[in-house]
Amino acid sequence: MPGSEKEYKYWGERASTHDNDYLYITGPTINREIKEWLILQFEVTDMVLELGCGSGGFSEMIADKVKHLTATDLAPEMVGKAKGKLSQFGNVEVQKEDCYNTSFKDNTFDAVLMVNLLHIVKEPVTVLEESRRVLKDDGRVVIVDVTGCGMPFLSKMALGFRYMKKWSRPAPYSRNFAPGEVTKIAQEAGFMVEELNLIGKDTKAVCVTGRKTMSEDMQNES
Ligand SMILES: C[S@@+](CC[C@H](N)C(=O)[O-])C[C@H]1O[C@@H](n2cnc3c(N)ncnc32)[C@H](O)[C@@H]1O
Repeated sequence: MPGSEKEYKYWGERASTHDNDYLYITGPTINREIKEWLILQFEVTDMVLELGCGSGGFSEMIADKVKHLTATDLAPEMVGKAKGKLSQFGNVEVQKEDCYNTSFKDNTFDAVLMVNLLHIVKEPVTVLEESRRVLKDDGRVVIVDVTGCGMPFLSKMALGFRYMKKWSRPAPYSRNFAPGEVTKIAQEAGFMVEELNLIGKDTKAVCVTGRKTMSEDMQNES
């Protein structure tokens, strides 16, 4: 299934002001908290694929923690922004890819990263199945999604208000994930969930890591 234009066009239209808008909406604290968690998830030997990298803010956080990063997005405007931001890193490539159907061979990457992607796509299980395909056996998926889940009612309302002020309407298919929902989706796509956190002093983020599991049939074949 290819990504519907709805899913990425909305973001392309917001690419030019994405970084400042995102910071205004979510606040600087959660960004710092995500970074602290994210940099612990990778090894210096890792070949990493990032799906839905947007303008490259989170790619930049991990670029010097990994061996190689392929940062991808389907919106051309976001790819352009990310290329500019990440040009300083010799180990980073930025390219246009559809997270439902990428151009990479099976068993290519040690880890797949997706930040704020899963909660805006129509078919999150399909996106994770594609991630699983391109991961090496034993590879990991690293998922981060900002969420209103677990926030006090008034803070959640304020988050929604800031969102509407900057981006005027919700993204198509956008939802607030609870940690258990992400676990279920990851398991359905064939991952063993290894870590599950709801982080954030103010704005929250669900942070999940999953390991590619092999079915018994596949294990017998290998
Ligand atoms: C909420 S933004 C997150 C961007 C970035 N990861 C961040 O957190 O700042 C979601 C991104 O997913 C991209 N996207 C949406 N549908 C996609 C698809 N089918 N394939 C690849 N990227 C997609 C959008 O273009 C957008 O850049």
